[in-house]
Amino acid sequence: MDIKGKHALVTGGGVGIGLEITRAMTAAGASVLIVGRDEARLRTVQNLTPRVTYFAADLTDPAECDRLVAHVLAGSPALDILVNNAGTMQYLALTAPDARARIERELALDLRAPIHLATALLPHLLERPEAAIVNVTTGLVYAPFGNTPGYSAAKGGLHAFTRSLRWQTRHTRLRVVDLLPPAVATSLTARYDGPKISPDKVATALLDGLRTGREEVRPGQTKALYAMSRIAPGFIFRALNKQADKVPLD
Ligand SMILES: NC(=O)c1ccc[n+]([C@@H]2O[C@H](COP(=O)([O-])OP(=O)(O)OC[C@H]3O[C@@H](n4cnc5c(N)ncnc54)[C@H](OP(=O)(O)O)[C@@H]3O)[C@@H](O)[C@H]2O)c1
Repeated sequence: MDIKGKHALVTGGGVGIGLEITRAMTAAGASVLIVGRDEARLRTVQNLTPRVTYFAADLTDPAECDRLVAHVLAGSPALDILVNNAGTMQYLALTAPDARARIERELALDLRAPIHLATALLPHLLERPEAAIVNVTTGLVYAPFGNTPGYSAAKGGLHAFTRSLRWQTRHTRLRVVDLLPPAVATSLTARYDGPKISPDKVATALLDGLRTGREEVRPGQTKALYAMSRIAPGFIFRALNKQADKVPLD
């Protein structure tokens, strides 16, 4: 896929991995609509980055997702690339009194919203000459953290949904890409002490993957994690969880 001249929607495009994807795409000649709750931050990114516009929305709310979809379908230029990137991760004990409510909020952002946007925008994207849906999951789909149960459920679910979407659209021009970052230095991993890569490396890997037609993009340590999960799944699961257990529960 040629990125130049494309129009992309990047949820969570105001900071972290989403911001670097936005920067990489605009540097490659695309225009990008970024989405998040923090309007001041989105405006700053718009002011600093050419070809960026923004839309403020809380994607845990299905009505806000509908409002975003209506904005995209009514707007111009026409959308070519959807990047479902916005996400949250909580370390929580399943015995906490509010565990279920917190997991439901996590599922709303990390799983329900990407499915909402992908299905609502699919008919439009299928009409485009060259289009892509990118779902940002995680290398942890190969070895989930026990202390982030909502995140593990959401990302595992999104990984499976991405495969279903790819299968159902296999005879179309749409590319369906799963981006599986390892630990990345953003606010999401502020309390995690393991090795991390910088978010611009993840964005570079995604753009390379889009250009070369990769279905699953595994930057940095995710490549090794994938291999280890095939060779010694129990070992890698325990090793990663030993590291993750050092993070205090929220
Ligand atoms: N960092 C890692 O190690 C890592 C590893 C693997 C996968 N990932 C995935 O990569 C994606 C980006 O993560 P990140 O590390 O860049 O995290 P981040 O820096 O914390 O950014 C999260 C983004 O999500 C947006 N967001 C949060 N809640 C939202 C809501 N209710 N509605 C709309 N937008 C919302 C935030 O914008 P507002 O605050 O403005 O709403 C922000 O732009 C996530 O899906 C994450 O699971 C991250």
